Parts: sequence; C-alpha cells; structure tokens
Amino acid sequence: MVEINRDELSQAYSQLKSTQSQILQQEKLASIGQLAAGVAHEINNPVGFISSNLGTLAKYVDRLKGFVEYQTTLLETLGDPEKLTALKEERQHQKIDRILEDLADLITESLDGTERVRKIVLNLKSFSRVDQADQKMADINECIESTVNIVWNELKYKAKVIKEYGELPHTLCYPQQLNQVFMNFLVNAAQAIEKQGEITIRSWLKDGFIHVSVRDTGSGIAAQNLHKLFEPFFTTKEVGKGTGLGLSIAYDIVKKHNGEILVESEVGKGSIFTVKIPVLEKNDA
Ligand SMILES: Nc1ncnc2c1ncn2[C@@H]1O[C@H](COP(=O)(O)OP(=O)(O)O)[C@@H](O)[C@H]1O
Ligand SMILES: [Mg+2]
Repeated sequence: MVEINRDELSQAYSQLKSTQSQILQQEKLASIGQLAAGVAHEINNPVGFISSNLGTLAKYVDRLKGFVEYQTTLLETLGDPEKLTALKEERQHQKIDRILEDLADLITESLDGTERVRKIVLNLKSFSRVDQADQKMADINECIESTVNIVWNELKYKAKVIKEYGELPHTLCYPQQLNQVFMNFLVNAAQAIEKQGEITIRSWLKDGFIHVSVRDTGSGIAAQNLHKLFEPFFTTKEVGKGTGLGLSIAYDIVKKHNGEILVESEVGKGSIFTVKIPVLEKNDA
C-alpha cells in the first residue's frame, strides 16, 4: 500500500518537475523575445536615418562630380596653362578621379548593408512581438518566411532549402508562437542532416485546415522513439545541442490552436513534420 503511494508520489513529483521546467523555458523564450523586440525597435531608428542620409549623400556626390567635370572643361579653355598643369598634377596626386568613381560604389554598398540590417530588424520584430499573448489575423506563409530568415544561419550550410508555399487565407492565431513551432521543426531538420541535404517547406489548405510541413533528408527517427518525441526532455542529442523541449513546446502550442502535428519518418531517409491548424475567422474566436 505504502509502496504504491510512494510510486504515485514520485511519478507526480517528476511530472511536476518537468512541467515546471517547461514553463521556465517558455518564460525564458518569452523574455528573449521581448529583449529582441526592444533591440529591434532601438536599431530601427538609426538605421532609418543612416539609409535616408546615404540616399541624400548619393545625390550630392553626383552633383559634385558634375560640377568638377564642368570646372575642368571650363579651365581647359580659359585657364592659364601653367596653373592648369599644376591643377592636373594635384588632381592626380589626390587620386580625385578614382575617388569620384569609388564614391558611388561605397554609397551603394552601404545602402545595401543598411537594407540588410533593416530586413533583419523587421524579421526580429515579427518574430518576437512584445504582444506575445496576442491572438491576431496572420498570414502563415509570412510567419514561415520570417522564421526561415531567423534560422537561416543554422540551415544554409546544411541544406538546400526548397519552399513550396500554397495560397493560404489569413487566420486568427498566435503568430509568434507558431513561429516557434516552425523554428523547432527547421532546427531539428537541419540537425538531423549530417553533412548536406534538402529541407522542403510546404504549405497548403485542405478541408478548412492550414497545413505546413517541413521535410528533411536527414537521419530519420527510429520506430521505438516515435512515440516519445513530444515528451519533455526526450532528446537523442548530446548535451548542449538538445534540450528535448522543442517538440513538447511545439505540441502545446499546436494544441492551443486546436491543431495537430503529424510525423512520418524513415530511418536513413528523413522525416516529415506536418502541422495542421483550422482556419479561423476573426469572429470565430
Ligand atoms: N527532423 C528530425 N529528424 C530526426 N529526428 C528528429 C527530428 N526532429 C526531432 N527529432 C528527434 O526528436 C527529439 C526531440 O526533439 P526536440 O523536442 O526538438 O528536442 P531536441 O531537438 O532538443 O533534442 C530529437 O532529439 C530527435 O531525436
Ligand atoms: Mg529541437
């Protein structure tokens, strides 16, 4: 009698412990999200005026260039030959022609750079909106896209990423949380690929459900592990690489959306993780 109680107690205790750390992890993700959104907001402003100033600078440089050309032609016809030679030498010495040529390239490159920063900031913002808890109408394809951009560094060396987005209606959901689901799938897919492979992201609408699948050509999952995937702390990865929380968090998020996650896998061939969530109109909530 006492034995059974103690068993139940220890089971309840370990369940409590795992729930607690799951909550901790979610809290941590939420605060990282808030931090990222704050930083993104702060970066946005300076990037805005840098890029606007660079645009103006490009126009000014163009004018200066035109003026220098004009002055040169004028001096050729009017100038005192001696002074003209001196001027030409000085121009050569200061490498003015090269500088004028280079200036435009420098500005174009800098504008490219600020554009890239702007995009990263945009992705960070949509990925980690401060309004974490907010349910809103969202375009799931946009969610996928911003998540892909966020984890691009983890993917790019491992896999060719193929995107097959279908047309989707906007749906009422928790977009940042779904981003987390996609992120977990994508990172898992990349980690399952040992050297080089393919990751295919598909989205489609069927029977009132939005489907998103992430397919990889990685290791696949052993049959005896399939039913454990969504347990908190189940991981086959070495310490530091896996926490075993990704899929359990994904499971909770998808459940909250009244959806489900389907897994197909073949050892040595790869896996497909599919999320299925119902399309919701604003007034369905
Ligand atoms: N795409 C995949 N290919 C192979 N195994 C996978 C894949 N996704 C998940 N798994 C298996 O499921 C386990 C749990 O995944 P997850 O909850 O994300 O935790 P973690 O990635 O931290 O290990 C992984 O350790 C791995 O064994
Ligand atoms: Mg994972």
